[in-house]
Amino acid sequence: AEKRISGKKYVLVTGGAGYIGSHAVAELIENGYECVVVDNLCNSSYESVARLELLTKHYIPFCKVDLCDREGLEKVFQEYKIDSVIHFAGLKAVGESTKIPLTYFHNNILGTLVLLELMEKYHVEKLVFSSSATVYGDATRFPNMIPIPEECPLDPTNPYGHTKFTIEKILQDLYASNTNIWKFAILRYFNPIGAHPSGLIGEDPLGIPNNLLPYMAQVAVGRREKLYVFGDDYETRDGTPIRDYIHVVDLAKGHIAALKYLDAHSTDGLCREWNLGSGTGSTVFEVYRAFCNASNKKIPYEVTGRRAGDVINLTAKPDRAQRELKWKTELDVGVACSDLWKWATENPFGYQLNGQKAVFAA
Ligand code: NAD
Ligand code: WQD
Repeated sequence: AEKRISGKKYVLVTGGAGYIGSHAVAELIENGYECVVVDNLCNSSYESVARLELLTKHYIPFCKVDLCDREGLEKVFQEYKIDSVIHFAGLKAVGESTKIPLTYFHNNILGTLVLLELMEKYHVEKLVFSSSATVYGDATRFPNMIPIPEECPLDPTNPYGHTKFTIEKILQDLYASNTNIWKFAILRYFNPIGAHPSGLIGEDPLGIPNNLLPYMAQVAVGRREKLYVFGDDYETRDGTPIRDYIHVVDLAKGHIAALKYLDAHSTDGLCREWNLGSGTGSTVFEVYRAFCNASNKKIPYEVTGRRAGDVINLTAKPDRAQRELKWKTELDVGVACSDLWKWATENPFGYQLNGQKAVFAA
């Protein structure tokens, strides 16, 4: 009750202990926002929040709560006066989602429903949602839609993508039910990479990394033998697929821009989608070379077969975000690789072997 009486207004950051969420919290605090982090730590650790406190010199309230736990989440709404929500919490591994789709639907969709119901009950009207370029599916079926604009028809091709698509629909329908009230920003991220330049926070995947940059970083620090390049027979400039890689700090700043946009529309509601990408595509080999340069290592690799479900090109048309949110990327793939390398060398085992545990392990 005390925190409500104190008059402070908080941004509720769901999934704030995770990769993108932790970088957004850093940016929010730097911009003068107070945050309360909710995370069940199913894919992260409290250490990231502790590091954020070190980085920002700021106390960051943390609640270990599962979004599907209505009573647990309601306590957070009762304790803190929440002004807006940035909703990162969700499961995100495409391959895993095809094996355990019910878990993905349950966690991502139910978690969002419970959150929205509590927002309605406590009159919290502003939400920024983490969607994904994966909602577009294989955009190469529309040759005139590369780079991809927000108007491109959506056609996700895996259960993870279906959860993002469904949540976008839920937000649109909820907005339409009372267009004076709800203010929703749907952000479709392309490929987030890199880490905070401080080296204090970064991506720390559990088990074998699914994504290109974390995998390469683990090879470079000696945790894995070599990188497997999933196919070099695509019709691109060097045979490997093209993606729009975006520095996670730029991405985090996009959330501040979206929050400010929602605040500027204080009289009426809105629900709108924005791509967050750079507009520039890079091939796997181009990223590989950038990371070899940044780490000053010749990373061993082997070309293997294509990975099921991969598409040839996913590049954003980022004009809408630039025009409306006044946001664009500022950091290129080279900077992202340098910042990732700093994070990887200073934390070769991620958040695991730091603090107490490291002392006992040594
Ligand atoms: P992440 O796994 O590092 O962060 C997600 C966080 O949510 C984790 O800390 C996890 O513990 C938490 N979480 C999951 N389910 C929860 C639940 N039911 N209750 C409470 N906490 C829960 O992933 P990330 O890369 O930081 O992604 C953040 C968001 O952005 C996700 O919604 C993801 O789908 C989306 N996204 C990510 C990418 C990417 O490539 N990383 C791209 C597009 C979109
Ligand atoms: C990038 C490129 C691989 C690993 C995924 C999700 C997407 C979004 C972002 C959440 C591809 C190649 C990769 C490796 C490789 N996430 N690769 N060897 O698949 O573009 O996007 O993350 O919303 O929904 O699908 O990212 O980093 O896995 O792959 O050759 O060990 O690197 O084939 O061309 P992807 P990625």
